[in-house]
Amino acid sequence: MNASRIALAVAADQPGLKISRHLFGQFAEHLGSCIYDGLWVGEDSAIPHVRGVRRDAIAALREIRMPNLRWPGGCFADAYHWRNGIGPRAARPRMRNDTWGQIETNAFGTHEFLDLCAQAGTEPVICGNLGSGTVQEMRDWVEYLNAPTGTGLADERAAHGHPAPFGVRYWGVGNESWGCGGLMRAEHYADEFRRYANYLGSYEKSALFRIATGPGLDDFHWTEVLMRECSAPRFNPNVMDGLSLHYYMNGGVPPGRVPQALRATTFTPAEWRTVMAHGWYIDDLIARHAAIMDRHDPAKRVKLVVDEWGSWYAPEPGARTSTLFQQQTIRDALLSALTFDAFIHHADRVHMANAAQVANVLHSVLLTFGAQTIRTPTWHAFHLYVPHQDARRLPVTTDAALLTHDGLPYPRVSASASLADDGKVTVTLAHTDPTEPVEVELAFTGLAASARPSGRILTAPALTDCNTPDAPDRVASRAWTEFRFAGGRLTATLPPASLAVVTL
Ligand code: AHR
Repeated sequence: MNASRIALAVAADQPGLKISRHLFGQFAEHLGSCIYDGLWVGEDSAIPHVRGVRRDAIAALREIRMPNLRWPGGCFADAYHWRNGIGPRAARPRMRNDTWGQIETNAFGTHEFLDLCAQAGTEPVICGNLGSGTVQEMRDWVEYLNAPTGTGLADERAAHGHPAPFGVRYWGVGNESWGCGGLMRAEHYADEFRRYANYLGSYEKSALFRIATGPGLDDFHWTEVLMRECSAPRFNPNVMDGLSLHYYMNGGVPPGRVPQALRATTFTPAEWRTVMAHGWYIDDLIARHAAIMDRHDPAKRVKLVVDEWGSWYAPEPGARTSTLFQQQTIRDALLSALTFDAFIHHADRVHMANAAQVANVLHSVLLTFGAQTIRTPTWHAFHLYVPHQDARRLPVTTDAALLTHDGLPYPRVSASASLADDGKVTVTLAHTDPTEPVEVELAFTGLAASARPSGRILTAPALTDCNTPDAPDRVASRAWTEFRFAGGRLTATLPPASLAVVTL
């Protein structure tokens, strides 16, 4: 096959699994300026806000239809005590956020988070404190949130301005309990998880979706133990609904082992390929964890929840290391697309995912500079994938062999296709070559005769370009018309390092 021409086939008349909108979720931690400045400016700020929440951030998150938001950590979750973040703000205690070396004012607490979620039209995902908390504390938080008035905790919630239950469904029971969340062995955490999870949400038990701390990276022993011990315990077989997985692409060899070796905005074509190959590694990682889950749970009741993923580069020059602030380029947009495609590929097991993190930390969709909020190239990748949310996956086949870098395979052109309820077919095409264009030929079967394609494309003037306060739209998607469509076949030349979407 000619390497510069790739043929793909999309079966538009064979809709399969639903692509959960929750695959496109975000994560917000009390870390650096993710929450404070990034999302919350406070009620006295001159920056436009609604009850302290940045107005422009909410608008940008609504545009990508952010389906869920995970909070308050991350590592911070296992040091967080929810009672410090309720009641009159002026009376809330200040504490040290030891994990990230900053002072926590507790100005942004439970009610502020849930107000933000309501403003953004998104579903909350709360991660409770197992590491330094108690069963009682976590249980009480769920009652405070979800019980109808008439109990002490629910009445306290009403006194703080929210009589109706919040109806929080997604609940993490600790975070990275093998690391910052308590340095536990899988066997010990499995016992703790069952104990904690068993007491959560007894008044709305069926509604709570309990997510266990899962493996970091390739800790297959952790998955084996959690599935063996928690996927169907005798007295409460449904105690675990989700098992989490964390994977950060940092270009280490083997993937993930050497942190922060790569830089965000200065890189060679070889370092570009490192990100593509180490990014696509998540497909293999999910397949291997899913194979273990399949043995214990062939009906696939327990979902994999990739509740932290993204690029993790060396700190920006001049930035305090612990703030984890980094810029984003078209490379990160393509890393996002590859990751989405891996999730879509494994949609039978992966139900939810959360990019780390939503603003100003690691793989962000938003960066804030004073009063200005910038949409990163990664925001544009999320935007182009919106039509796949809750649509039915369509089979895509190709004759193209995978490329290899650092001994890891990855696709030159990665594609996902879906059929929405309104009958629209959407195909996303992520072209990972940084320097050469590629010819693609998309052959459709089962398309309506009336189907007419329209497209958008994301490219960058230079590979290392990023969006800044002076040039906030330097890397942004635009309408795409440079394709031919006839007889159910779409042909086009994809520029290097591009992400295209076509809807018919
Ligand atoms: O996202 C930054 C940190 O990475 C999170 O707090 C932790 O869970 C992970 O190690």
